[in-house]
Amino acid sequence: MLLKEAESEKTAKRKLEHIEIVLTKPVEGPATTWFEYVFLPHRALPVVDPERVSVNVSFLGKEISVPLMIAGITGGAPGTEAINKSLAEAACRFKIALGLGSQRAALESRDLAYTYRVVRDVCTEIPIVGNLGISELIRYGPTVVYSLTSIVEVDAIAIHLNYFQEIVQPEGLAGLSRGLEVLSEAVEISPVPIIVKEVGFGISKEFATELYSSGVRYIDVAGCGGTNWALVELYRAISSNNVVKQYIADGIKDVGIPTAVSIVEVRSVSKDITIIGSGGIRSPYDAVKAIRLGANLVGLARPILVAYSKNQLNEFLEGFIVGMKSILASLGARNLDDVRQSPVVVVGLLRDWITSRGLQLT
Ligand SMILES: Cc1cc2nc3c(=O)[nH]c(=O)nc-3n(C[C@H](O)[C@H](O)[C@H](O)COP(=O)(O)O)c2cc1C
Repeated sequence: MLLKEAESEKTAKRKLEHIEIVLTKPVEGPATTWFEYVFLPHRALPVVDPERVSVNVSFLGKEISVPLMIAGITGGAPGTEAINKSLAEAACRFKIALGLGSQRAALESRDLAYTYRVVRDVCTEIPIVGNLGISELIRYGPTVVYSLTSIVEVDAIAIHLNYFQEIVQPEGLAGLSRGLEVLSEAVEISPVPIIVKEVGFGISKEFATELYSSGVRYIDVAGCGGTNWALVELYRAISSNNVVKQYIADGIKDVGIPTAVSIVEVRSVSKDITIIGSGGIRSPYDAVKAIRLGANLVGLARPILVAYSKNQLNEFLEGFIVGMKSILASLGARNLDDVRQSPVVVVGLLRDWITSRGLQLT
């Protein structure tokens, strides 16, 4: 028990350090998302009124009014309930989906469950996605999905794959080779869908094919070009004076599949996968490009935390949604199906990648 409490204190401390670093250090790059190689030629005089663009979509059995999700950020340390409460209030106001940060801390200490549960107290209508790392799924076994759903009522559970982050903080590397097997058991028994989620290094078509064969139908690509978890861990290694970890983190900071690429790769596997396009979505134009390339909805993490820290969450989301609708209108799209048919130009490295991998834009 004491050991578990010490673990939970370490987990809580790490959660707070992540927030602090993400808000104060340059944690993006050097890789980019490759959305800069995608262009959507617009009509300078739109025939569609932006206010009439309908972007509502069904996600996890619930209707959301924009294909947007606040990606998993936090929970599990005293104080994070205030962040989660604000995120849930904003998600509820705009009727968008909300992801929780890893629920590991609440598995280690039930006393912390309130930091997650607060989101359901605030909003019952929106889809809420629980979260756990693959290492904990392996350690606790697939039945842990029942504990996760008892901590807070969720509509799905995201299992995050953070291999390159764990390379720097090697807590859960042992047993990773059993990961896919345990994942597919979890998919089979889970009372809610399992979303397989990266954290900023992307997912390839080969791996997505394996996931698909294991029964996974929801993938959050979280490609590179946004928050870089090698850099986040680099700053933690600098604070703790661990020079070896600094070299490890520095050595892997440019690994990853850019988000634009990862969306095209995963979509090539099946039409039947719900894709969350995330990792470095920084503008409404990025979001619309992600949808044009094959994402069903898009997710944002760091920009949301930054807007929260400036007390501008509602303004940020409103601006983002207006931006998305106005771009869709300029493409002549009245809804999301229309945008998937609109012209797209792919140039440079992304075009080379698509050709050399034998992929096709849908
Ligand atoms: C402070 C912070 C904490 C995060 N914690 C988690 C987590 O617990 N579980 C998870 O799956 N992803 C976590 N993420 C990763 C995000 O969900 C997202 O995949 C990643 O940051 C890339 O998106 P972005 O470029 O928009 O930030 C966290 C992100 C931030 C900014």
